Amino acid sequence: MDKVLISPSLLSADFGCLKDDLLKVNQSEADWLHIDIMDGVFVPNISFGFPVLKYVAELCEKPLDVHLMIVQPEKFINEVKALGAMMMNVHYEACTHLHRVVQQIKAAGMKAGVTLNPATPVSVLKDIVEDLDMVLLMSVNPGFGGQKFIPHTLKKVAELRELIDSTGSKALIEVDGGVNLETGKSLVEAGADVLVAGNAVFKAPDMIAMIHDLKNLK
Ligand code: DX5
Ligand code: ZN
Repeated sequence: MDKVLISPSLLSADFGCLKDDLLKVNQSEADWLHIDIMDGVFVPNISFGFPVLKYVAELCEKPLDVHLMIVQPEKFINEVKALGAMMMNVHYEACTHLHRVVQQIKAAGMKAGVTLNPATPVSVLKDIVEDLDMVLLMSVNPGFGGQKFIPHTLKKVAELRELIDSTGSKALIEVDGGVNLETGKSLVEAGADVLVAGNAVFKAPDMIAMIHDLKNLK
């Protein structure tokens, strides 16, 4: 069985010492770096924008897993590509023409992920899942780090695993929100491939050790 992939979420980093945190991520067993971009419209918060992320991208040696919590994410495909992002995740709830956006992300040379809010059922992906490189299930309502994991997500992971296997899709299952060693273990057992972890990693006494422990849940 392949090990679970770990994508630490930059939102919980210490922005006063951002460089130190990024260098620790580089030294760790993290597979990717998860980057949350918010617009204050799609979610009730604003995080960081492209001038800051340009610096992050220069320092970070891990592939960038970009999660856009913004309306009309297609407007920023070129900016995300310019960062050198590996994966661009857009919200199902933010895209009227989701199929077109997914094709545009791929045409730009990035992997395409679609994110579902906690109240959005997995079944809405039936006609697009074969085109996706990843599905990101939110296990909290997006906008903030440090929230409590919504247990119903475990059922969604199992349901998504069934949908992916039945269609022959190669999409990875990523879960974001309230992930720690305990919820992470249940998620891996339910079939998750990638865990995002913000507070669990960046607020841990030893970030590198915590990433190691998450990495070895499976
Ligand atoms: C929430 C973000 C998450 C957040 C996770 O809207 O999408 O990536 O940083 O933080 P934790 O792991 O602390 O819940
Ligand atoms: Zn996120």
